Amino acid sequence: MNKIHVLDSSTINKIAAGEVIERPASIVKELVENSIDANSDEIVVKLKDGGKKEIVVIDNGTGIEKEDLELTILRHATSKITKIEDIYSILSYGFRGEALSTIADVSKMEISSAIEGYDHSNVIEVENGQINKKTIAAFRNGTTITIQNLFYNIPARQKFLKTTNYELKKIIDWIKSIAVSNPKISFKIVVDNKEVYTFQKKSSYEERINEIHFDITKNLTQGTYKDPLVSAIIFVTKPHKVNESKGITQIYINNRPIKNFTVLSAIKKAFEAKIPKVYRPDAFIFLEINPKIIDINVHPQKLEVRVKEDSLLFLPTYYAVKNALEQIKETEIDKTRPTQLISTITAKLIAESETKTERGGMDDFFVKAEKTIQKSLDILPEEMRYSATPKIKNFKIIGQIFNTYILVEKNNSFYIVDQHVAEERYNFEQIQIQYQEHNGLLKQELLVPFGFLLPVEDRGVLLENKEELGKLGFEIDELKDELLVRTIPLKIRNNITKEETKELLKDVIRGIKADIADKQAGLFATIACKMSVKAGTPLNELQMEKIIENLFDCENPFTCPHGRPIFIELSKDRIEKEVSRK
Ligand SMILES: Nc1ncnc2c1ncn2[C@@H]1O[C@H](COP(=O)(O)OP(=O)(O)OP(=O)(O)O)[C@@H](O)[C@H]1O
Ligand SMILES: [Mg+2]
Repeated sequence: MNKIHVLDSSTINKIAAGEVIERPASIVKELVENSIDANSDEIVVKLKDGGKKEIVVIDNGTGIEKEDLELTILRHATSKITKIEDIYSILSYGFRGEALSTIADVSKMEISSAIEGYDHSNVIEVENGQINKKTIAAFRNGTTITIQNLFYNIPARQKFLKTTNYELKKIIDWIKSIAVSNPKISFKIVVDNKEVYTFQKKSSYEERINEIHFDITKNLTQGTYKDPLVSAIIFVTKPHKVNESKGITQIYINNRPIKNFTVLSAIKKAFEAKIPKVYRPDAFIFLEINPKIIDINVHPQKLEVRVKEDSLLFLPTYYAVKNALEQIKETEIDKTRPTQLISTITAKLIAESETKTERGGMDDFFVKAEKTIQKSLDILPEEMRYSATPKIKNFKIIGQIFNTYILVEKNNSFYIVDQHVAEERYNFEQIQIQYQEHNGLLKQELLVPFGFLLPVEDRGVLLENKEELGKLGFEIDELKDELLVRTIPLKIRNNITKEETKELLKDVIRGIKADIADKQAGLFATIACKMSVKAGTPLNELQMEKIIENLFDCENPFTCPHGRPIFIELSKDRIEKEVSRK
C-alpha cells in the first residue's frame, strides 16, 4: 500500500464537488436558487449544448456589493446564515456557502453584478477556483453568472455527462419544477439562442401549474389543510381521470422541491380503493412547515429534508388529498372547522415526538398513521367527524388466528371470518362490476412475458378463445411452440410466478371447456381466487380492517363464489346461553 498523505485543497474541492455538482442541471439549480434568494422576479437561463458548453443565469435581484464579489467564490462564504441554528429559521434555498465555490472549482466562471445606485457593474473572471481578472462593465441591475466548459479540468467526470438532449431535459424539468413553486417570478429559457420557454409572472400556484402543465390542469382537483405548524395546498388528478400513464409528482416543502417517501405514501393511501393500485395520479403537493421542526441540511443537493415526526408530513398530505377528493362530489360541506380542529393533533404529536419510536416497515407505518387518524377522530365532537376522513367503522378487529381467520366484533355478534374467501367474494363482485363497466377486465403487462409449452390441444383452446381471454385480462400470442402470456388481470398480485400463472391458465382452459351455463362466473371466481390473500398469511391490523370493510360492503357477504360460507357468526345471545348467563 502507498504511504498516506493529505490531499491538496484543489483536489479536496474537486472531490467534494462531485456531491453537489453532478451535471449541468445541478449548476442551473444552484444559480437559479441564488437568484431567487436574491429576491429576483425575472430570471433568464441561457444554455449551449445542454449546458455542457455554457450556462448563463441572468437575474434582476438585489445584486452583490463590489467588496463581496470576490467572497462569493470562497468556500463557506454566505450571506444567508451566521450560525448553525439559523438553518432552523431561514426560508432561503441556500445556506452552506459552497455552491459558487464548488462550481468555480470545476468550470470557468464569470460573475457580473451591480446593486441599485451603481453606474456600472463589477465583474470577476474565475478559473480553477482563482480570480483571474477584475473588470467593470455597463450597469445592469442584478447579477449575471456565466459558466463555461463544465468539468474541463476533470476529464473523468466530463465523460459521464450524457447527450445534449438528456442534459437539456434534466435542466428544463428542474426549471419547470422550481417555477411551479415560485409563480410570482418570470422564467425564460433560451436554448442555443432560441427562446424555448417563457413563464410569465402569475399570482398563484394554480395559475402557474396551468401555465406549465396546461394539458393536465383540467383534470386536477384542489385540497387544503391547515394547522398551527403545517399547512398544505395540494392539486391531484380526479380519480376518474387517473390513467395508466406514470403521472407527475412534485412535492414541495416551503417551496423547495424535494423527494419524500412519506408524502408519496400519504397520497397513495388517500387514493386507496379509488384507483387501481398501479395507477399514479398527478400530484402537486405544497407543504408549508415551520422551519423549526425540519432539518434542511441532510442531503448534499438539498433534495431531501428531515422532519421531526413523519406524521407531520403524512397526515397533512393525507387530509389535504382526501379534502380534494371530497370536493369533487360534496362541495357544500364546510371543511374548514374540522380540519383545523383535527390538526391540533399534530401539535400534540410534536410534543410526543420527543420520545421517538423506531420506524418499522411501511405497513407498520400505515397502521400507526391510521391509528393517529382514528385517535384524532375520537376526540372530535360527533358532528365534526366529516366525511373526508376515513369511514367510521362499525366493527372491531379482535385479531387473527392461525394466520387464516380474522376475529371481528360487530353489532352484538362475534365473527370468525375466513380471510381468503372473504377477499375472494369481494374481488369476485369487483370483477363483475369492472367487466360490465369496461367491457372486460383491466390488464397489467408482465415485465417479461411468460412463455409456456402446453399440450397442443390446450394451446388450441386458448388460441381459439384469444378474444375472450383478452377480455379476461390475458393477452396471449403464439411464438413457435410456445404460448406467450403478455398481460394478466390487473389486480392479480404483482409477484405472481410463472407456475401460478400456468395453473391459472389451466383453470381458465378448464372453465372455457366446461359446458356449464354460467361459464363466465366460474372464470371470474377462478381469477378472484388468485387475487386474494391466501390462508396462512399473517396480516396486520390495517389489512384485516380492509378485508372486513370490503366484505361488509359486498352484495353477498355470506358465501364465497363457490358457495362456501365465509364466516361463522356467534351472537352475544348465543354465547350468553352457552355459558348459562341467560
Ligand atoms: N444571484 C445572486 N444575487 C445576489 N447574491 C448572490 C447571487 N448568487 C450568489 N450570491 C451571494 O453569494 C453567496 C454565495 O453563494 P453560494 O450559492 O455559494 O452560497 P449560498 O447560497 O449562501 O449557500 P449554498 O451553498 O447552500 O447555495 C450567497 O450567500 C449570496 O450572498
Ligand atoms: Mg446558493
